[in-house]
Amino acid sequence: MRIVKHPILSFERGREVEFTFDGKKMKGYEGEPIAAALHDNGVRVLSYSKHLHRARGFYCAIGNCSSCLMTVNGEPNVRVCTEKLREGMVVETQKGRGDIK
Ligand code: FES
Repeated sequence: MRIVKHPILSFERGREVEFTFDGKKMKGYEGEPIAAALHDNGVRVLSYSKHLHRARGFYCAIGNCSSCLMTVNGEPNVRVCTEKLREGMVVETQKGRGDIK
């Protein structure tokens, strides 16, 4: 789901780009938050909590809560609510602290 029209805000989208999420090809717009592109592709679970392994999703959306930590291009603990999408990114679900590959 994506908001395309708003009474106050205007949206300037970059070009359409492809990226992968857990090995699946997806499309989004260059420069939008990775989490927004994932949501538009139906992905709601972004990570799992460190101790109880509970599903975590979009929460604050401003980079404060760590609910959206994912592994991006092999780098763990990337806050995908503020990280901008680029062509060919490899985005993976992170379980726990995330390991450096
Ligand atoms: S949703 Fe809170 S840091 Fe990303």
